[in-house]
Amino acid sequence: MSNQVKIFDTTLRDGEQALPASLGVKEKLKIALALERLGVDIIEAGFPVSSPGDFQSVQTIAREIKNATVCGLSRALDKDIDACGEALKVADHFRIHTFIATSEIHVGAKLRKSQDEVVEMAVQAVKRARRYTNDVEFSCEDAGRTNIDYLCRMVEAAINAGATTVNIPDTVGYTTPTEFGGIIKNLFNRVPNIDKAIISVHCHNDLGLAVANSLAAVEQGARQVEATINGLGERAGNCSLEEIAMILQTRQAMLGLTTNIRSQEISRTSKLVSNLCNMPVQANKAIVGANAFSHSSGIHQDGVLKAQNTYEIMTPESVGINKNNLNLTSRSGRHVIKHRLMELGYKESDFDLESVYEAFLKLADKKGQVFDYDLEALLFFSQQKHDHAYYELKYLHATSGKEIIPSATVSLLVGDKEVTETAIGNGPVDAAYNAITKVLGHNKIEIVDFKLDSKGEGANALAQVSVIAEYNGRRFNGIGLATDIVESGVKALIYVLNNTHLADQIDQQKKQVKIAGV
Ligand code: KIV
Ligand code: ZN
Repeated sequence: MSNQVKIFDTTLRDGEQALPASLGVKEKLKIALALERLGVDIIEAGFPVSSPGDFQSVQTIAREIKNATVCGLSRALDKDIDACGEALKVADHFRIHTFIATSEIHVGAKLRKSQDEVVEMAVQAVKRARRYTNDVEFSCEDAGRTNIDYLCRMVEAAINAGATTVNIPDTVGYTTPTEFGGIIKNLFNRVPNIDKAIISVHCHNDLGLAVANSLAAVEQGARQVEATINGLGERAGNCSLEEIAMILQTRQAMLGLTTNIRSQEISRTSKLVSNLCNMPVQANKAIVGANAFSHSSGIHQDGVLKAQNTYEIMTPESVGINKNNLNLTSRSGRHVIKHRLMELGYKESDFDLESVYEAFLKLADKKGQVFDYDLEALLFFSQQKHDHAYYELKYLHATSGKEIIPSATVSLLVGDKEVTETAIGNGPVDAAYNAITKVLGHNKIEIVDFKLDSKGEGANALAQVSVIAEYNGRRFNGIGLATDIVESGVKALIYVLNNTHLADQIDQQKKQVKIAGV
């Protein structure tokens, strides 16, 4: 058996389906490119049949990704499998992932079918998927609670039908490591054709055991782990990709297993996903939390200074955290900024130095010293600006105070036309939002959540606003960052507007295709 464990990332599918607002095509592509750079073997890009937006995201990712297999999810239904085949056919390598539930409770209460019927549906689904590709994954949903005899029968039938990977999910995060490892061991002992497929696992974290269960499965012979960045996913999430990857790397001498993950990309990928998904990472989260490599106790600090491995089992550098020794101020030149960005792991092709430098100087004038998190935020926001620029903020003036009616004037570039409006509100952000509503000429955007965070430390921190807004029955995320709270709030709303504009364009294209009868 190979000692290589494949890493199957499902951030864009299982992770995304659990977000309060869905991601747009460009955000998904950005995450997919980061995952490719991280070295994941398979990227599950979405569930094409679920919406036109998801179909387009999967297709776009399939077209752009060259070094990973792109995968789409489908139920065991013809229309789902056909949508996957259609969305993925532009890829260099693609996989169709089809699934059906196998536990008694799911088969009886949800599918309302007999066990024989479900086996037959699985077999037909795998065969249909094989018409599109030789790379077919079959999942036994709720395998963790499935009777082992039936699970063995299902796995054998799926492999006979042509599945090349068979996935064993603990869909509801119910099993314990010994129990879950035992299921995998049983499959290896009892399924006669098991050597014809790779056994995969997909664990949820309802009891906080997703990573432990995945590890137990790998120790019993599973050679694919399905995981998500920052452990995003349904309910309590999925197996955290960075955790399982760093377990396999840090304990390689004991486990004897390898992956293709380039661990230095972990920190950056985690931040990108957290920002784009508007899902903060808890400070004490293993591997990627803000405190994962900081030592508080004096005894620990003293130990680490004497020998790093007294209290560090892996280095911050190994996951891409590089400490900064440079003092970045408005006196720093372009080459220093470029040098620091490259030290942080970015490649020249990731940024337009001129626009990042221009933004850096503006920030340095306001803040004095610019820190790594500022630089990364500038880079992130300058990329957003280049990608979606239908709406752009040109001017903002807001007033507020005690005994003053808050008011704001906002100028937006809408396409190529500049529009200015003034409005009052119950605070300066509200006034600015009212002015933007006047610019739009409609009030179809409803803010359902508005969160203010500080990015950075103490008085030097930047204000980050995250909003979730509803438009035409769908939810959109927006984030804004600035030294000023009102500006940050306005930027977050503009981010939303650009995403709604993009979604309108996709819907429009879809309508045109339908009218043309394609
Ligand atoms: O948790 C689960 O069972 C799933 C399947 C679709 C693989 O996400
Ligand atoms: Zn899942």
